[in-house]
Amino acid sequence: MQEIKTIAIAGAGTMGAGIAQVSAQAGYNTILFDINLEMLQKGKNSVENSLNSLLKKGKLSLEKKEEIQTKIKFTSEINELKADLIIEAIVENLAIKQKFFKEVAELNSPETILASNTSSIPLTQIAEKISNPERVVGIHFFNPAPVMKLVEIISGEKTNPEIVEVCKKLLAGMGKTCVMAADSPGFIVNRVARLYYVESLKILEENVATFEDIDLLLESSGFKMGPFRLMDLIGVDTNFSVTNSIYNLFNQASKFRPSKIQQQKVEAGFHGKKTGKGFYEYE
Ligand SMILES: NC(=O)c1ccc[n+]([C@@H]2O[C@H](COP(=O)([O-])OP(=O)(O)OC[C@H]3O[C@@H](n4cnc5c(N)ncnc54)[C@H](O)[C@@H]3O)[C@@H](O)[C@H]2O)c1
Repeated sequence: MQEIKTIAIAGAGTMGAGIAQVSAQAGYNTILFDINLEMLQKGKNSVENSLNSLLKKGKLSLEKKEEIQTKIKFTSEINELKADLIIEAIVENLAIKQKFFKEVAELNSPETILASNTSSIPLTQIAEKISNPERVVGIHFFNPAPVMKLVEIISGEKTNPEIVEVCKKLLAGMGKTCVMAADSPGFIVNRVARLYYVESLKILEENVATFEDIDLLLESSGFKMGPFRLMDLIGVDTNFSVTNSIYNLFNQASKFRPSKIQQQKVEAGFHGKKTGKGFYEYE
């Protein structure tokens, strides 16, 4: 079975920084790459804050924290994106992901596993422009990656089953619970969860209730987070891109119709926690 020593993560945003932490905590040499230096620094701060919180809770020693940090190399140089496994966590846009993978596939050996953290885009489409599409796989972490145990593994039409086994073993070693999903839009979780967001936004659009009350109601009835608080955590922009992607991949089925309210939030730059304002305001 293929041995993984170095894992590179592309995109140091909401997901990428957390995935880098998971990788380094599991002892892998880790590279975190972003084209945007400001985002790279934010990603670095996010890992630091997350490890500090574990330190405070007594879940991590200072020595271990420093060891984890030295395992991560932060870079904005694409030429340094060389690894045994590359996990892409950049924007949810097919053309951008295809371009990224084409570039990275040329930089790396044909053995390098190319994984996408996409929430909705079929892996077969992502692999289309790559010379060895059998090494493309979906590794879909959940937010926040260091906390959430669930990972969906997605095989594209051409994915080599041996690569899936390598990923399963690796993720189990990281303490994750893997669920296999077919290459269908939104896979399992995002397809089911889409209606949680879309229907709540429709209720808001129809002035049935305020977003705070919708959250309050759903949280009181047992959901960990209401849909609006959850969209703010995910990133209102990312959530909107995922809804658009699923809506189009399901031939614009009305049940997945994206909301104008959400579109306006995205256009106004109210992207949730990461920008300090979404539906709610943050420090
Ligand atoms: N946010 C979530 O809760 C969540 C959960 C699971 C999966 N995902 C998926 O993970 C991916 C990333 O989502 P996110 O929410 O972390 O996005 P984000 O907007 O928080 O971060 C994306 C990062 O990618 C960087 N980037 C953009 N183009 C790039 C390129 N060509 N090369 C390198 N870096 C580039 C941006 O600078 C940014 O830092 C998406 O595919 C999304 O669907 C998101």
